[in-house]
Amino acid sequence: MKRSLVMLCVFCVLSGYAQQADIRMNAFINQLMGRMTLDEKIGQLNLPAAGDITTGQASSAGIAQKIEQGKVGGLFNIKGVEKIREVQKLAVEKSRLKIPLLFGMDVIHGYETVFPIPLGLSASWDMALIERSARIAAEESSANGICWTFSPMVDLTRDPRWGRIAEGSGEDPYLGAQIAKAMVKGYQGNDLKKNNTIMSCVKHFALYGASEAGRDYNTVDMSRIRMYNEYFLPYKAAVDAGVGSVMTAFNEVDGIPASANKWLMTEVLKNQWGFKGFIVTDYTAINEMTAHGLGDLQTVSGLSLKAGIDMDMVGEGFLTTLKSSLSQGKITLKQIDAACRKVLEAKYKLGLFDDPYRYCDPQRAKAFQSTNTYRREARNTAAESMVLLKNSSGLLPIKKSGTIAVIGPLANSKENMLGTWAVSADYSTPVSLLTGLQQVAGSDAKILYAKGSNLSEDSLFEQRVSVFGKPLEMDRRPEEEILNEALAIAQQSDIIIAALGEAAEMSGESSSRTNLDLPQSQKRLLEALLKTGKPVVLVLFTGRPLTLTWENKNVPAILNAWHGGTETGNAVADVLFGTVNPSGKLSSTWPQNVGQIPLYYNHKNTGRPLPEGKWFQKFTSNYLDVTNEPLFPFGFGLSYTRFQYSDIVLNQSAVSRSEKLTATITITNIGDHDGKEVVQLYLNDPVASITQPVKKLIGFQKIFLKKGESREIQFVLTVADLKFYNSDLKYEAEAGDFNLYIGTNSKDVKSASFVLKK
Ligand code: BGC
Repeated sequence: MKRSLVMLCVFCVLSGYAQQADIRMNAFINQLMGRMTLDEKIGQLNLPAAGDITTGQASSAGIAQKIEQGKVGGLFNIKGVEKIREVQKLAVEKSRLKIPLLFGMDVIHGYETVFPIPLGLSASWDMALIERSARIAAEESSANGICWTFSPMVDLTRDPRWGRIAEGSGEDPYLGAQIAKAMVKGYQGNDLKKNNTIMSCVKHFALYGASEAGRDYNTVDMSRIRMYNEYFLPYKAAVDAGVGSVMTAFNEVDGIPASANKWLMTEVLKNQWGFKGFIVTDYTAINEMTAHGLGDLQTVSGLSLKAGIDMDMVGEGFLTTLKSSLSQGKITLKQIDAACRKVLEAKYKLGLFDDPYRYCDPQRAKAFQSTNTYRREARNTAAESMVLLKNSSGLLPIKKSGTIAVIGPLANSKENMLGTWAVSADYSTPVSLLTGLQQVAGSDAKILYAKGSNLSEDSLFEQRVSVFGKPLEMDRRPEEEILNEALAIAQQSDIIIAALGEAAEMSGESSSRTNLDLPQSQKRLLEALLKTGKPVVLVLFTGRPLTLTWENKNVPAILNAWHGGTETGNAVADVLFGTVNPSGKLSSTWPQNVGQIPLYYNHKNTGRPLPEGKWFQKFTSNYLDVTNEPLFPFGFGLSYTRFQYSDIVLNQSAVSRSEKLTATITITNIGDHDGKEVVQLYLNDPVASITQPVKKLIGFQKIFLKKGESREIQFVLTVADLKFYNSDLKYEAEAGDFNLYIGTNSKDVKSASFVLKK
């Protein structure tokens, strides 16, 4: 009683402070807006791109002049503290009201020190590690003038054809939500005013990962039940974690493009979820609504403002049309004021009105360049994100001795290790696999290298892949010559490491693929290497799940390294030589072939499910040519050791709504190595008012066990874990039977059942 009274007092004091701060902020902004002209207010809603990259059709012109005229609210993707300082100077010294600019950037998986692509990060299932990667990105970028990042990207996807799967956390709502929270916390810390925290922008609201056929920017059509129970969870988690801004998606939601969707932006985001920050569109998303069929630029800009959008990225629809719309009575001054207030509030919260150069301290920026701490973190994070997909007869880890051949188009590649969206990376520092192996093995082993093949034999594909990004580092010699050189090296070696997969630009934005096999040139190389009879380890670099049915059958060991960032090569070497025991688990299902997509573990049952263990049964839900099984299920990943799971013990078999249920399981490391395991908890509600997933993740714990060690793990469930949105979109738990599963992945599980009492 006493304790809760103290808690209540603390809460009252804190909310009192927050209210005071809000009152001060409102007074400041009221006074400022009282002095602003209509043009200046509209100017705050304008976000041009001014960096070294452009990702859409439009580019922003005459920016300096516009800044001086108060027609710019923020800029993005400028790199360099001195440059940013100069541009800020234009705003605070040359514009009439001296309102500072926001400086945004796509700091997606690190700033200069690059961490694994987000899909890789998610495979670590380590929230503290993920939060730290965002923290380091905030430290580095904030010292370089950036105060706002367009991250995290939390779009769930079940379609690996979609290239942007690389930027998110895979297919699971619960895991995605935990990661969303961790990243927002990492970027924003506890106090946005500090000069080492930056404002986060969760994107792309909403449902962007559900584009039809995995084709980028494509149509999305989804029931509200699915939105609320699945796809919305990570966005909402970011909002609950206090994310400062939200970016719209390119796609439509329920027939209306997200950037004009009032239901989505105002009803769901602001009214239902209580979002208090500002909403920015994606790159030219307002303009694109003309192609969507919603009208000319003036019309779509008006729709967007009325839907609740506050800032227009790049397209200048707001800048060029809102004034006319206002004079024609199509929008109101109140709507413009509301958007302007949101943008000014963000600047206030970041402390930019106190000191517009808060994030522009060249001394701080320099200090980071020499630190090794972040590189160590990046190396550890990359190793933790790797997923061991196959390891026949314990081929891995390998010894640091003898002759090791590292062969493949990605064996000596630095830039590709960074993966997609590494716009601010230091491209001189990434460590290739070859260098990593040489560094970690030292003089203990002889490392030989050959390229063996190009990434792709298709020159048109090559051109498309490198249109915007880096070239594919092609070797123009005849294919035979490149292969023979590699085979000669392979013959001299004791073991072959084949470094194959995707170049950085083969996944990411506008990099959808319909064939997820290794390209033919690489497959040919792999076959030839296997024919030598030497043991082959496939180290895979990829931004997405690939279809590796043949490889899984024929190659004895497969380690998936993703695009692991700056320290990739060292981290792969740490794992191959056994300094680090791999513990990553897939956050998305890997299909056997592309025809199975979308394939995801938390699917619903049909009325005619295929009986367990069968390949095919007429008139059930299956295929003639392939089983329903994935190649690798969600949550899957091997270790150099083995973990044994006991049966689940529940503290009771029936719980009331106010009681807690405790599920206990004992995990034992029965192998020969110390190692980490991600213990996964799934739930199924077998009888409910609406159909339910056959299984859904509701908890996990990543634990470390020394060899021979046993640990009792407990999961405590409350009624909140049993709730779902029903057909009235009410969030409720329904009484009745439930099944719980605990296991090492979504397929290999122990089970127990309990009842939720009425
Ligand atoms: C992407 C966003 C990104 C923006 C700014 C767009 O093309 O969809 O994710 O934040 O560009 O670079």
